[in-house]
Amino acid sequence: MMARAALLPVALLLCLALAGNADARRKSGGGFYELKNKNGDFSIKVTNQGAAIVSAIVPDGKGNLADIVLGYDTVAEYASGSASFGATVGRVANRIANAQFVLDGKTYHLIPNDGNNTLHGGPRNFGKVIWTVKEHVHDGDSPYITFYYHSFDGEQGFPGDLDVYVKYQLSRPYDLSIRMNATARNKATPVNLANHVYWNLAGHGSGNVLKHKLQVLASKYTPVDGSMIPTGQVVPVSGTNYDFRKPTTVGTHLEIFRVGGNGYDINYAVNGKQNAMRKVARVQEPKSGRAFELWANQPGVQFYTAGGLANEKGKDGKVYRQYGALCLETQAYPDAVNHPEFPSSIVRPGHVYKHDMVFRFSSQASYYDA
Ligand SMILES: *[C@@H]1O[C@H](CO)[C@@H](O)[C@H](O)[C@H]1NC(C)=O
Ligand SMILES: *[C@@H]1O[C@H](CO)[C@@H](O)[C@H](O)[C@H]1NC(C)=O
Repeated sequence: MMARAALLPVALLLCLALAGNADARRKSGGGFYELKNKNGDFSIKVTNQGAAIVSAIVPDGKGNLADIVLGYDTVAEYASGSASFGATVGRVANRIANAQFVLDGKTYHLIPNDGNNTLHGGPRNFGKVIWTVKEHVHDGDSPYITFYYHSFDGEQGFPGDLDVYVKYQLSRPYDLSIRMNATARNKATPVNLANHVYWNLAGHGSGNVLKHKLQVLASKYTPVDGSMIPTGQVVPVSGTNYDFRKPTTVGTHLEIFRVGGNGYDINYAVNGKQNAMRKVARVQEPKSGRAFELWANQPGVQFYTAGGLANEKGKDGKVYRQYGALCLETQAYPDAVNHPEFPSSIVRPGHVYKHDMVFRFSSQASYYDA
């Protein structure tokens, strides 16, 4: 009798333990994947946790390699971290005012996660979910990896099923392209995907980016109110602290970075034809000479100098501090779904959203002086 009575709890515990394991496997379905060029001097790592870019190793003019992307050592930190390091954020990147919008006469309620606003699609945005790895070619002439995610009708409050792909690819000599698409299956929905990679071209964890030189090919920007929501105006950068039309040191307008300020976190209206691939920005770190040009086919680009970073524990024992990186997130204008005067971010059933961007790295010291 005694033995029998003891067996039951043991069997029960075993069942629970097995169920627990399966659950753990599902939850920890994230891993790291690498793409490496033929020379071995250009590589990236990505994770299917949030379809995020984890590292980018790029040479400077002397061939010195550095990892120029902020990130974490473990998949678990990508799941729990709040900085969206390298992540593919959505269904709607950036802010949606008061966590709601009206589409075709219906009001949709989202989950506020930034004061009263929704940021990057909500607390469980595309940067917080596990994506499926569809294809992975590790090396060769143009290595690539494709991630897929099915976003269900009602996920985080958004309407309709959405099939989403993100493809990372290296090509010669030092180009990293990120191609995203999303197909609305059955309902109209706003879509705005962005890659939230944090750059420091001197190397991640090497200090602030205030000496980086930046050019943004935008004559106008969208000013915001006190809760970071665009006022609806699209105004000239001329004569403001937001003028980066010519290559300009990021820290030039110091008042932006002083106590009380929080650095840059602003959307630019990129010059040129909206759905055409065009040059958006150039960045160069003066000491190493490392630089990239960013090309994309989106209406806007959010320039963010990581004002929200505060002693974030990162890769390789580094600690990331305020202004320790800059982000240039090509995308639709923030809160476009509540601003009929902005370029539309609505995708109708059967239609496809396409977002392409290319980071073209270079290490010529005279990049900007030429
Ligand atoms: C949120 O909205 C309420 C009601 O309008 C307002 O009183 C409150 O100050 C807002 N909170 C923030 C953080 O903006
Ligand atoms: C979306 O991207 C994936 C991966 O690159 C590709 O296979 C698919 O054809 C694309 N879909 C559309 C509708 O363009």
